[in-house]
Amino acid sequence: KQAAVITVDGPSGSGKGTVCQLLARELGWHLLDSGALYRVTALAARHHGVELDDVEALEVLAAHLDVRFKATDGGDTQIILEGEEVTHAIRNERVGEDASVVAALGPVREALLSRQRDFALAPGLVADGRDMGTVVFPQAGLKIYLDASAEERAQRRYKQLISKEPGASLGDILNDIKARDARDMNRAVAPLKPAPDAVILDSTLMSIKEVLQAVLDEARHRG
Ligand code: C5P
Repeated sequence: KQAAVITVDGPSGSGKGTVCQLLARELGWHLLDSGALYRVTALAARHHGVELDDVEALEVLAAHLDVRFKATDGGDTQIILEGEEVTHAIRNERVGEDASVVAALGPVREALLSRQRDFALAPGLVADGRDMGTVVFPQAGLKIYLDASAEERAQRRYKQLISKEPGASLGDILNDIKARDARDMNRAVAPLKPAPDAVILDSTLMSIKEVLQAVLDEARHRG
C-alpha cells in the first residue's frame, strides 16, 4: 500500500516551507523539501565547475547527487552534500536563482524524480514544492496550492533579510520574486500551476497558524 501524501505547491514566499514543516511535525509524517534538491544540485554544479547550460553534465550530476537529509535531535533537518553540511549555504539568493535555472531542465527533473518518490514512506509524507501535486505525486490524497500576492511575499522576504542585509531593497526583492515566478510558471516542463484537484489557499491575509489550521481541516475532512 502506498503511503499517504499531502502535497503543498506554490510560489516562493507563500509560506509553504514553514507550513509544511509544522504540518509534518503535527501529523508525525515525513517531509520532502523538493526545492532543497534543486538548490543542492545548483550548488553541486558550482562546486564541480559545471556551467548552468551544460544540460548533459547537470543531468549526470543530478542522477548521482550524493545528498543526505539528516534529522537532528532538535527536530531540524541537516542537508549534507558530499559529506559537507550545506543546510544554510543553499538558502542564499544566488543559489535560489541558480536552482530555478537548473529546475527548468527536463533531464534534471527526470533525474530527481525517483529520489523524491522515495520519500513517500509510512505513515505519510508532506511534500513541498512546485510540481508535487501535478507531476511527482499525482495520486496524493490532498493537494494544496498555497498562493500569496507578490507584494506580500516580497514584504515577508524583506523582513527576513533586513537583519542580515541592512542594504536590502524591497523593490529589488519584488523584482526578483516576479522574475522567479515568471520562470517557474512559464517553463515548458513541470511549470508551477495548481493541480486540477488542488485546494487553493491564498495566504496574503492569513497567518502561518491560520494556514496550518486550514490544511489540517482539509486533511481531517478527507479522513
Ligand atoms: O522552494 P525553493 O525556493 O527552495 O526552490 C528553489 C527553486 O527550485 C524554485 O525557484 C524552483 O525553480 C525550483 N523548484 C522546482 N520544483 C520543485 C521545487 C523547487 O522547480 N518541486
